[in-house]
Parts: sequence; C-alpha cells; structure tokens
Amino acid sequence: MRYLFFMPFILLAACNNHSSNQIAVSNNQYLLKKGDSIATLAQKILLQKVSNAIELGGTDYAISFCNENALKLTDTLASINNVKLSRVTDRNRNSNNALKTTTDTVAWNKMKIKQASVIETNNNGEVYFYKPIVMAMPTCLKCHGKETEITKSTLQLISEKYPKDKALHYNAGELRGMWKIKM
Ligand code: HEC
Repeated sequence: MRYLFFMPFILLAACNNHSSNQIAVSNNQYLLKKGDSIATLAQKILLQKVSNAIELGGTDYAISFCNENALKLTDTLASINNVKLSRVTDRNRNSNNALKTTTDTVAWNKMKIKQASVIETNNNGEVYFYKPIVMAMPTCLKCHGKETEITKSTLQLISEKYPKDKALHYNAGELRGMWKIKM
C-alpha cells in the first residue's frame, strides 16, 4: 500500500522538471541538516575541551592541549560519523587548516558575504558541507584576539608552536573559519 501511495510522486518527479528541482532542494536541505548536526556537536566538544583545559591550567596549558589534540579530536569525530571533517580558514594557525581547494575558496567567499552554511559540489561530483565558525565567545579572544587581550606567556607559546601563525587580531563576532565536511 505504502508503495502505491508514493508512486504518483515518483512519476511526477521523473517527468516534471519543476519537481526534480524540488527534490534537489530537499536533498540540499537534508545535507545541510546532517552537516549541521555533525558540525554543531564537533564544535561543542572542542569548546568543552578547550574550556576544561583553560580551567585546569590557564591559556598556556590550553595552547599546548590544542596543539596536541585539536586535529586528533576532529579526526576521531570524523571517523565516528564516517565523514571527513576539518576546520579551514584563510588566516590559519595550524598550516593543516588552510583553505585547500577551489571549492573551499568558493564556500569561503560566500561565507564572508553571508554567515550561513553552504553545500558545494566540486568538479568530481564530491559534495561538501561548510559551516561558519564565528568568534562567538569572549574566550576566543584569549588566543585569537589582539596582543593586548592575550597574556605574554600565551603569546610566546603561540609563536613558538606556530611560527607562521596568522590567527591573531580577530574581533568578537568576526568570521574565524568554517567547518568542512565531506558528505
Ligand atoms: C587556549 C587558546 C585557544 C582558545 C581559547 C581558542 N583557540 Fe582556536 N585555536 C587555538 C590553537 C592552538 C589552534 C591550532 C590547533 C591545531 O594545532 O590544530 C586553534 C585553531 C582554531 C581554528 C582552526 C583554524 C586554524 O587557525 O588553525 C579555529 C577555526 C579556531 N581555533 C577558532 C576558535 C574559536 C571560534 C574560539 C572560541 C570559541 C577559539 N578558537 C578559542 C587556540 C585557542
């Protein structure tokens, strides 16, 4: 019975251009929703870890913690969700997190105009979800803000561990980077 009920919709979808556009739109919405749930959880976990580390040993300890664990954590979260997951940005601290592909740049340029998630498909037909990462909390400034907002020892550690760091001088609320998930 259920199949009979869906039949007319499937036929309509096959014959009617307008309906296939609707299918593309709803597929996009599905991907946006799925990507968002993974990115939101990953963001929450990273934030929890960095907050815990600051509480335990201040920003100096937290820098070392992020240096050793941030990439491992995103990799673990990726394998749990069976996706590829990373953070990318134009002003990266870790060189692994630079914008890598034309698709990254396309998504980034859109995000700079409008801070909203996007789905992009590259020339090989691979589908990517991108979600903005914003300097949403005062804590972010302790490691990505102006030199006056960061302790001397933390600044020193950042320059030791990341000699090519580009991730200072951000303002509260500014776009900092994006989650990138290969769907
Ligand atoms: C204790 C210091 C510290 C705090 C607080 C902190 N970060 Fe970071 N952040 C780092 C370090 C260190 C890295 C590099 C991690 C690595 O080596 O993978 C990093 C990397 C990132 C990246 C990946 C891109 C890049 O530049 O490598 C983003 C995005 C980011 N941080 C955003 C934020 C946001 C948003 C907040 C606030 C919610 C925040 N950070 C708070 C230290 C911090």
